[in-house]
Amino acid sequence: MTLLSDPQDMFTQGLAPIRNGIGEPDYGTPKSKSEQQVTLLIDGAEVTVPAGTSIMRAAGENGCSIPKLCATDSLEPFGSCRMCLVEIDGRKGTPASCTTPVEDGMVVRTQTAKLSKLRRNVMELYISDHPLECLTCAANGDCELQDMAGVVGLRDVRYGYDGENHLDAPKDQSNPYFDFEGSKCIVCNRCVRACDQIQGTLALTIEGRGFNSKVSPGGLNFLSSECVSCGACVQACPTGTLEEKSVIQLGMPTRTVQTTCAYCGVGCTFNAELRGDELVRMVPAKTGGANEGHSCVKGRFAFGYATHKDRVLSPMIREKITDEWQEVSWDEAINYTATKFKEIQAKYGDNSIGGITSSRCTNEEIFVVQKLIRAAFGNNNVDTCARVCHSPTGFGLSTTFGTSAGTQDFKSVGKSDVILLIGANPTDAHPVFGSRLKRRLRQGAKLIVVDPRKIDLVESARVKAEHHLQLQPGTNVAIINALAHVIVTEGLVDSEFIKERCDVEAFDRWMKFIALPENSPEVVQAQSGVPADEIRQAARLFATGGNGAIYYGLGVTEHSQGSTMVMGMANLAMATGNIGREGVGVNPLRGQNNVQGSCDMGSFPHELSGYRHVSDDAVREQFESVWDVKILPEPGMRIPNMLDNAISGEFRGIFVHGEDIAQSDPNTNHVKAALSAMDLVVVQDLFINETANFAHVFFPGTSFLEKDGTFTNAERRINRVRPLMAPKNGLQEWEIVAKLATAMGYPMHYDNAAQIMDEIAAMTPTFKNVSFELLDRVGSLQWPVNDAAPEGTPIMHMNGFVRGKGLFVETPFVPTEERSTRKFPLLLTTGRILSQYNVGAQTRRTANSTWHQEDVLEIHEADAQMRGISDGQKVAITSRIGETIMRAQISDRVPAGVVYTTFHHPISGANVITTEYSDWATNCPEYKVTAVEIRPADSSAGSSNTLDAVLMKA
Ligand code: SF4
Ligand code: SF4
Ligand code: SF4
Ligand code: FES
Repeated sequence: MTLLSDPQDMFTQGLAPIRNGIGEPDYGTPKSKSEQQVTLLIDGAEVTVPAGTSIMRAAGENGCSIPKLCATDSLEPFGSCRMCLVEIDGRKGTPASCTTPVEDGMVVRTQTAKLSKLRRNVMELYISDHPLECLTCAANGDCELQDMAGVVGLRDVRYGYDGENHLDAPKDQSNPYFDFEGSKCIVCNRCVRACDQIQGTLALTIEGRGFNSKVSPGGLNFLSSECVSCGACVQACPTGTLEEKSVIQLGMPTRTVQTTCAYCGVGCTFNAELRGDELVRMVPAKTGGANEGHSCVKGRFAFGYATHKDRVLSPMIREKITDEWQEVSWDEAINYTATKFKEIQAKYGDNSIGGITSSRCTNEEIFVVQKLIRAAFGNNNVDTCARVCHSPTGFGLSTTFGTSAGTQDFKSVGKSDVILLIGANPTDAHPVFGSRLKRRLRQGAKLIVVDPRKIDLVESARVKAEHHLQLQPGTNVAIINALAHVIVTEGLVDSEFIKERCDVEAFDRWMKFIALPENSPEVVQAQSGVPADEIRQAARLFATGGNGAIYYGLGVTEHSQGSTMVMGMANLAMATGNIGREGVGVNPLRGQNNVQGSCDMGSFPHELSGYRHVSDDAVREQFESVWDVKILPEPGMRIPNMLDNAISGEFRGIFVHGEDIAQSDPNTNHVKAALSAMDLVVVQDLFINETANFAHVFFPGTSFLEKDGTFTNAERRINRVRPLMAPKNGLQEWEIVAKLATAMGYPMHYDNAAQIMDEIAAMTPTFKNVSFELLDRVGSLQWPVNDAAPEGTPIMHMNGFVRGKGLFVETPFVPTEERSTRKFPLLLTTGRILSQYNVGAQTRRTANSTWHQEDVLEIHEADAQMRGISDGQKVAITSRIGETIMRAQISDRVPAGVVYTTFHHPISGANVITTEYSDWATNCPEYKVTAVEIRPADSSAGSSNTLDAVLMKA
């Protein structure tokens, strides 16, 4: 038998194996974090490495790779394959170099005749039970087994193939993105360990013993198992056993471009691997600051939407929304739009138009959109989708700490001892952070979950929350106050920290407020439904358990007291001294990939980039002198004001950049009425979305695979987005905007996206030293990036708060006006699911719909029984705003009195029923509390038929 491809040259140069992405070397075992150095001799060369490093890694880092199969540097060593044996002076036998740590003075030999023979023998056994189809195997050229056979010099297999073997082991092709071909498995356990150690799902096991050992996903197959399709096992597999379907279909990639995921606010870095111009697979980069080699199903696999047939690639216009769309040239579309906007302004005044920036787009694209509005429209009527998600974060954290952003990097959670997770569901919505969190919990950190719903982290494989404060929706502030009450009244505050770092007068006022009996757990129990004793225990744990970190999501912000709650969490962190070092902090888990960036770039009507108020003369003058235009000192309209004023006739035209407000914003009917009332709605997006149904102009946008720029993730990390291909619509999105500004009479021109970043940096203190050149050199940067922190700031407020002294703010609990009533006795709350993303425009156009084809309503058995509702039945959900229909799913995740759904599908349109209530400070809608009633939908046949029809079509 002859084996194909001899990678000896590549291997001896330390480049192979390349399984973890083209160009990323694999040193076999993780890097040691020890500061102590150890010196030894490997093959006669003196080598110095940190104590705790394996011999394998020490050799590899010094240009001397040792053969391996079961080891990979993203996993703890396992020592099962016996390929990596070495000889050590003074030691008997041939220890495995992956499991043997270096020692001072050790003398190691990695290449001897004895070792060669042993390795060849081991390899011979592997190959004697492996199909000989290297030429036609999809993994040809990216198979460590093949590589190692070459490296050990295997030329023949003496045993033949007549004995017992696994060559007829079945294939599992159930997963839409990868196949499992059992006959190629060498039972190295890397997939099982990846699922366990990296992803934390524990979906895989090795079943059977000895020769009968085999990898099992449990259940029938991968699709029916606990597997969440993160792909960590596929990445870890050294053979063609676990292989991406895209590689099987398209062939092995030949080049790579590093870029950033365009889904959630984790901001994972990927090596996009291409074959010619075709994207074959996305491999999470080990050098990615946010993800360090991991990903979720969306980022790794769900990129097909970018080339989906539904994408619109030509600009289109129409006089009325009842007319057919007409494809036109870019010039015609832009001139038409500019003329219409100018006509509206001439007739109704400068303030009659505005725009919305996109948190899915790059910083550079967002910056030019808000510049278009301020400079070419001549007003400050710009807002962003952060209005409907994390605007309270900006308000709350800037008030208390002085910065509108999270305090930590994601890595920091690895140093947390107690994690307080409020209104967030990271394993679904921020999966790569969820995996980090689970890893820390498995190491012994404690978790307190505050959520009306029993999320996976409350109890799942090897993870159990210490406390689940299962509160009534709308009572977050009562709970945070009660936690603080216990800490204050039981003398658990960190007085030293407060004296040194905080405004002591404000603290004294706050302490008197928080100690009031109305904030006691006993009173709050009645409001929230959480037992007082549970609150007390959780508070004591947070205050005394070591490094306490707070992570939160939209379950905090999307409430009428969203801003109050953010300040309540900041109070708690300051009171316990949990700010300004690793392992602590207050951290929003941001929704959209670039929602942090859209806020940073000046997308709010009252702020220019870097959160500087438009009323600040000095700031305005800086922009005015560079942009050569007057900027209004008064804040413009927020999204809700624009919509209200559209209905009253004063606001007549809008530029909606990459948002689907007709699906994502609350009270859909109101949004649609407002859009219908406008003379000009311009949508720039990939697909005809719900909002585009009300548009007169459609500008086709670019997918993240075509963009050149940056995204900023939830850790303030600025990541490069690099184009893999030319824009399919013919123009970069910033070019479209610049042309529109020019056509409106404000000349705007850039040669490339790097120039836009240079302008951002020149005008935004927190971005002062940022440039594409620096980003390309260092990988990523967490703002502030300035002279004091030239390579960024992973942890904020280390030596003092940005605002000077930390400010405690009194946070009285004010119950929302949205209450359950006799007519609407249940409280509906909303969230996300792993496989779908936001309004689903992208993920619904991928195989991710395999897992979630429709939004369902989770309802407690008692509530279902009372209403005669069975599992899977269609139900009508009615609020005082509207009605929608979904299938019911009877679930113990929600308590009686609470129902839950997601909002990924336009057909179910959860926002048809959400109300007009919003955060008192920022207008962030109260998505998380809607009083509803549920009834079987069969009685309202018309609506249920609609659901069926659409589901069938989908
Ligand atoms: S894809 Fe992820 S979750 Fe599924 S088995 Fe592999 S590692 Fe586990
Ligand atoms: S599937 Fe791949 S990673 Fe898993 S045991 Fe088999 S060869 Fe190893
Ligand atoms: S965790 Fe978020 S950023 Fe990372 S791959 Fe998944 S969707 Fe993309
Ligand atoms: S690589 Fe060391 S035993 Fe497998």
